[in-house]
Amino acid sequence: MPQEAENIWDKKVSPSPESEPVQIQAQKFGMDKIRIIGGRRLEGTIPVSGAKNAALPLMCAALLSDQPLHLTNMPSSLHDIRTLSAVLAALGVQVTMPKEHDFILQAKLIKSNIAPYDLVRKMRASVLVLGPLLARTGYAEVSLPGGCAIGTRPVDLHIDGLKAMGAQIVLEDGYVKARAPDGLKGVHIDFPKVSVGATENLMMAACLAAGETVLSNAAREPEIIDLGECLIAMGAQIEGLGTPEIRIKGIKKLHGAVHSVIPDRIETGTWMIAACLTGGTLKLKNARLEHLTALIDPLEEAGLKIACEGTDIIVHRNGRPLTGADIMTAPYPGFPTDLQAQFMTMLTLCEGSGMVTETIFENRFMHVPELCRLGANIKVHGHSTIIRGVEKLKGAEVMATDLRASVALVLAALVAEGETVINRIYHLDRGYENIVEKLRACGADIVRLSGGE
Ligand code: UD1
Repeated sequence: MPQEAENIWDKKVSPSPESEPVQIQAQKFGMDKIRIIGGRRLEGTIPVSGAKNAALPLMCAALLSDQPLHLTNMPSSLHDIRTLSAVLAALGVQVTMPKEHDFILQAKLIKSNIAPYDLVRKMRASVLVLGPLLARTGYAEVSLPGGCAIGTRPVDLHIDGLKAMGAQIVLEDGYVKARAPDGLKGVHIDFPKVSVGATENLMMAACLAAGETVLSNAAREPEIIDLGECLIAMGAQIEGLGTPEIRIKGIKKLHGAVHSVIPDRIETGTWMIAACLTGGTLKLKNARLEHLTALIDPLEEAGLKIACEGTDIIVHRNGRPLTGADIMTAPYPGFPTDLQAQFMTMLTLCEGSGMVTETIFENRFMHVPELCRLGANIKVHGHSTIIRGVEKLKGAEVMATDLRASVALVLAALVAEGETVINRIYHLDRGYENIVEKLRACGADIVRLSGGE
């Protein structure tokens, strides 16, 4: 029998005085470091966690109904999940964890319409409460978001879409203040640019709007499909998931549902790259290769053998030197920007050279100077980088800058000669569950040093 659900988030991370222990802990973690002695091959099994980028919008979907939404395969220990739990708790959502990777979220009553700055600034995805909150209650105030420092990352597409659906929106005191006292109405929105977050926000809002909403040039990421399937399980009427045109027929009320979060394709891809870089064989448990088609060709070109056994992916390097490959990031099904830094790290040791072009975010080469500190030869030319393979990387002290840049440094350290110390690893805690334990279990010489050490 499952134990009675404990409302841990209300207790520990709601923005009340009781939230103090978790915030203190987060500050302490902020000073933690990772020390890696490079040179070990990775051999073993890594269980892939549920996808952070699917889990976050799914949690926000709970705002659309007064009934419970039960999410399984949640990456529960991630800081981003805790931050969003705190945002939702501040709005009145009861967040309980009946077991380790299960969440039950129930928004029986919305007790506040304000997502405050001190919570939202920690994570950009908090802006995903805007659409569902507005659709459910007719009013929402959400602080302009923070998150990874990878360029300006505006939210204009979210706002313009909601305005087109009839919302009156002002930006005041750093907040997006949105009102739709008579509810939202279905419209045709043609996004000028593909945006994952805007597609998610508007898809959720449209579920409770009057009439049909058509989202053209919509994002097609697996996380969008996962959210859409959960909304359908909650009673929503959605067609066209996974295509650039999503059609949503608004209804009056959604109900509760049980939904399992998809495996994290970015974590999976990170470990595939790690196997290619370090050599050795990795079995990635509970993963979905079909979400990573853009990674297969360049990784095979570089020298990785990839096989599937049910829901496991088995990867190993072919034993020959790493070969250079060129990639360019693009919206799904293109090469994911969230794997760009890791792929570039792999190219630092290739025979010949490779090229990485970033088309989604400006300022997403912050890992380059840190990789160069380890001995990499990388030249940045606008949105592209040329990586000329070097014989070896050498350990040094480096600084993690954003989530994916941080894990790229971990990968580099796994192959660098000697000791690498990575500072500011709180970014990793936002997006990679038990990374030290997972890598150590596969033979890496890796430890986490607490702030004071
Ligand atoms: C999501 C992912 C992030 C990933 C990104 C691109 C989550 C929680 N995060 O972020 O890990 O790197 O997709 O795959 O799922 N843009 C605008 N105006 C807007 C919104 C976006 O100009 O209103 C721009 C962005 O600055 C960026 C591009 O559109 O240049 C794509 O951003 P978007 O797809 O919205 O990324 P996120 O949803 O924030």
